[in-house]
Amino acid sequence: MHQDLEEILFSAEEIAAGVKRLGAALAAEYRGSDPLFIGVLKGAVVFLSDLIRAVEIPLHYDFIAVSSYGKATKSSGQVQFLKDVGQSIEGRDVVLVEDIVDTGLTLKYLLENLRTRGPRTLKVCTLLDKPERRQVEIKPDYNGFVVPDRFLVGYGLDFADRYRNLPYIGVLKPEIYRVSSNHGKIRTKY
Ligand code: IMP
Repeated sequence: MHQDLEEILFSAEEIAAGVKRLGAALAAEYRGSDPLFIGVLKGAVVFLSDLIRAVEIPLHYDFIAVSSYGKATKSSGQVQFLKDVGQSIEGRDVVLVEDIVDTGLTLKYLLENLRTRGPRTLKVCTLLDKPERRQVEIKPDYNGFVVPDRFLVGYGLDFADRYRNLPYIGVLKPEIYRVSSNHGKIRTKY
């Protein structure tokens, strides 16, 4: 286990089993409809790449990137597009793929935005759901695991862009995220 972690919540094997379950359920729902899976960069990349191989039907995938809301805009839920999908989603069956749903603000913004473009259906598949922190009423259609209110890293999830490539998901030691290693500043994100 990485030295900055308190404990491992999900091993690589447990994650793989969860992804397989989700893949089978998605394949059953979308058989014959050529769905478009949209991964939210960068966190969902690792999950999406495993998930699409577990969904054993023809599909397409694309990516979007949004700015994370800073301290100032957190309560307003303002999120901005940094990168949009490269195609029309009108009339498509769209599955938005997230790493984790926390406050729900990012997802709410994305769903409202994507809905205006006339997809035939629009659903959400997240690997992790942290319902205790929710600020808006949003429930993912597909969820791998419900997680407690702790700061998680690995399998795409980061802190300051680190730990994304850990093959498992673990709980970051609070002393790592409370005080940043370079200038000793207090981080307020979490
Ligand atoms: P929301 O708008 O608060 O739901 O934000 C979701 C985003 O916050 C995720 O896509 C992650 O990038 C980030 N996030 C939320 N919780 C965690 C965590 O425990 N570890 C790492 N990133 C997290």
